[in-house]
Amino acid sequence: MSERVDDPEKLEAFQARIDRGDIIEPRDWMPERYRKQLIRMMSQHAHSEVVGMLPEGNWITRAPSLRRKLILLAKIQDEAGHGQYIYSATETLGVSRDELVGQLLSGKAKYSNIFNYPTLTWADIGVIGWLVDGAAIVNQTQLAHTSYGPYARAMIRICKEENFHKKQGYELCATMAKGTPEQRRMLQDAVNRWWWPSLMMFGPSDKDSPHSQELLRWRVKRKSNDELRQRFINLTIPQARAINVEIPDPDLKYNEETKNWEIGPINWDEFFNVIRGNGPCNRERLAARRKAHADGAWVREAARAYAEKRLKARQAA
Ligand code: 3HC
Repeated sequence: MSERVDDPEKLEAFQARIDRGDIIEPRDWMPERYRKQLIRMMSQHAHSEVVGMLPEGNWITRAPSLRRKLILLAKIQDEAGHGQYIYSATETLGVSRDELVGQLLSGKAKYSNIFNYPTLTWADIGVIGWLVDGAAIVNQTQLAHTSYGPYARAMIRICKEENFHKKQGYELCATMAKGTPEQRRMLQDAVNRWWWPSLMMFGPSDKDSPHSQELLRWRVKRKSNDELRQRFINLTIPQARAINVEIPDPDLKYNEETKNWEIGPINWDEFFNVIRGNGPCNRERLAARRKAHADGAWVREAARAYAEKRLKARQAA
C-alpha cells in the first residue's frame, strides 16, 4: 500500500515539536511513517509480552515450593497485563486488536527473539527474571521517555512491575548459587544458555539497524541498540560476580578507560535465524498462541454479544 505523502511544512512543524521535547498524543497530527513505526514497534512489544508467558508457564506446575509458585503466577499474570496495556496503547494509533493479533497468529508479526528458547530446568526461571527482565528494564526505562504519550505512560507502570520480576529472578539465582553442587551446575547451565540470546534482545548492532536512526530522530527510541546493550552488560557483570556465576564469554574484559565491559562477538546468524522463525521453539510458541486464541473464541463471542445487548438496551431506553 503506497504511503501517504506528508505536507513538508507539517513535517517540519512536527520535527520542531519533537526537538523541543513535546509529547505526541493520539489526536495530534503525526507523519504517517511515525504512526506506522509506532504500530510496528509497539505491537511487537505487546506480542512479546504475551508470548513471553509461555516459556515460564511451562514451570508453574513444577515450582519447587508454594512460595515460588505464587511468585511465578504473579509474574506471568503481570506479563499478560503488560500485553494488554501495550495493545491498548497501539490501538490509539487507529489499528484494531483483532488486526494486531491476526498478524501474530499468521506468523507475519515478530516478537522478541528471546522467547523462542526452551526453559529446560527450574534455574531457567530465575535466569529469565534476572537477565531477560533485566534487559527489558534497561530498554523500557528509556521507552518511558518516548515521544508518544500512550506508550510512555504504559511503560511507567510496566517498569515498576518489571523491577519486581528482575528482583525475584535474581533472588532465585542467588539462592541456587548458595545451594548444592547440582543446583550450582543447573544455574550455570541456564546462564550459559540465556546470556547471549539476552544480549540479542536489544536488536542488531547500530550499523545493521534499519529503524534506529529514524526512531532516534523522532525520540521514539532514546538510546541506540548498542548503547542499551552496553548498559545492560555493565549492570549485569558485577551481579554475576556477586553470586559466583561465570559469564560464558572467554573474550570478556574490562576497559579501565571507557569503564565498559567488552564482550566477544555476538552470533548474528543465530539472531536472524531465530527472528526468521527458525529458533528452537518458534513453531511451538505460535502453535500454543493459535490454540489459546481458538480456545478463547467463546469468551470473545460472549463479550461481544453482551456489549451489543447493552448497547441495544441503551438505544431503546
Ligand atoms: N527480537 C525480534 N526481532 C527483533 C529484535 C528482537 N530482539 N530486535 C530487532 N528485531 C527486528 C526488528 O523488529 C526489525 O524487524 P522488522 O523491520 O521486521 O520489524 C529488525 O529486527 C531490525 O531491528 P531494528 O533494531 O532496526 O528494529 P527496532 O528499531 O524496532 O529495534 C527493538 C528493535 C530494540 C526490539 C525495539 O523494537 C524495541 O525497543 N521494542 C520495544 C521493546 C520490546 O519490544 N521489548 C520486547 C522484549 S520482551 C519484554 O519486554 C517482555 C518482558 O516481560 C521480558
